Amino acid sequence: MSKTIIITGGAGFIGSHVVRLFATKYPEYKIVNLDKLTYAGNLENLKDIDRLPNYEFVKADITDAESIRKIFAQYKPDGVIHLAAESHVDRSIANPMEFINTNIIGTVVLLNAAREIWGDNFDGKRFYHISTDEVYGSLGKTGFFTETTGYDPRSPYSSSKASSDHLVRAYFHTYKLPVVVSNCSNNYGANQFPEKLIPLSINNIKNNKQIPIYGKGENIRDWLYVIDHARAIDVIYHEGKTGETYNIGGNNEWTNIDLIHLLCKIMDKKLNRSAGTSEKLITFVKDRAGHDLRYAIDSSKLQRELGWKPSLQFEEGLEKTVDWYLANEEWLNNVVSGTYEKYYEKQYTQR
Ligand code: NAD
Ligand code: TYD
Repeated sequence: MSKTIIITGGAGFIGSHVVRLFATKYPEYKIVNLDKLTYAGNLENLKDIDRLPNYEFVKADITDAESIRKIFAQYKPDGVIHLAAESHVDRSIANPMEFINTNIIGTVVLLNAAREIWGDNFDGKRFYHISTDEVYGSLGKTGFFTETTGYDPRSPYSSSKASSDHLVRAYFHTYKLPVVVSNCSNNYGANQFPEKLIPLSINNIKNNKQIPIYGKGENIRDWLYVIDHARAIDVIYHEGKTGETYNIGGNNEWTNIDLIHLLCKIMDKKLNRSAGTSEKLITFVKDRAGHDLRYAIDSSKLQRELGWKPSLQFEEGLEKTVDWYLANEEWLNNVVSGTYEKYYEKQYTQR
């Protein structure tokens, strides 16, 4: 194997697509998926590739410094692609501490382990930190986040990610650790845990349950198909400049309510229900505390310098996503059981 890459959070939504892309596209790399398997981590996401000779799974918690040091000493990675995180804003509002531990402490544990194993020889080494556009705060009706937009995080989730971004850059400036960072807009696609807007709504429509829309549904997100994010991560890992940041986005802004109308139309068609059936499930509920109004990414640096661009139109990507959830009923039923049901009850009965 020419290179060993540890991918953290590889059993989660985006991580599983990144692991699959790297393990299949680069058979000469050894891909080590390091994941704690929290409620959001699911090895079923990778069952199609888990027998590949260049793939290995290691169960570990990134906040456990001793275990992480041992794993780095054993595998001697050339690269780290760091996706492991607590990722859901509503959970961060209910319980910020888990986000501080995993997203901030966990990131520093990984940075320290990389420093320890690489010493002063950074030849062919790379620490790639995956972050979010939410660190930039909330936009008004106009404008875009660029790589030079000042940080202004406003939820415990985005603050913990912002903090980890600062620490990653501090290790570059202070210790010359060869880092690269990307900040991406909202992802959608297969394998996303059904607590986030799109898979939650697909699951609820399928089961004739209410679709909870926060506030008036006027908040705007810029949606990117998860495979396009994985493609961007591939390009940035291999060709991004050390110490740089790249914004990744879909140039695809939707208000939540318009998005849900489109989803309802697609679901009616796929489920052979008469037009307008799913829309009746739309329910406006109490707004999220501190709900950011609008995110929109300017990804022109990545497009110009590294030649990446999104491959799918939103309607096409959303239809593929719906098809995946309807075809993977067992996956959905497995994750929507047990503790998730309790979370759902608590989250949506407080309104
Ligand atoms: P996810 O919640 O689906 O998956 C997170 C993964 O991290 C899970 O497999 C979980 O088991 C693992 N994990 C959590 N805590 C861990 C710990 N202490 N040790 C080891 N593993 C742990 O998240 P996602 O949506 O796939 O997001 C992945 C990354 O991308 C995150 O860093 C997130 O901030 C970032 N991001 C997400 C989006 C999005 O729209 N989902 C957009 C931009 C950036
Ligand atoms: P989400 O998928 O949680 O992503 P993020 O908060 O990271 O952007 O939410 C996307 C948008 O949908 C956000 O504006 C909040 C809203 N939303 C709802 O209206 N209802 C819901 O049940 C959820 C989970 C989100």
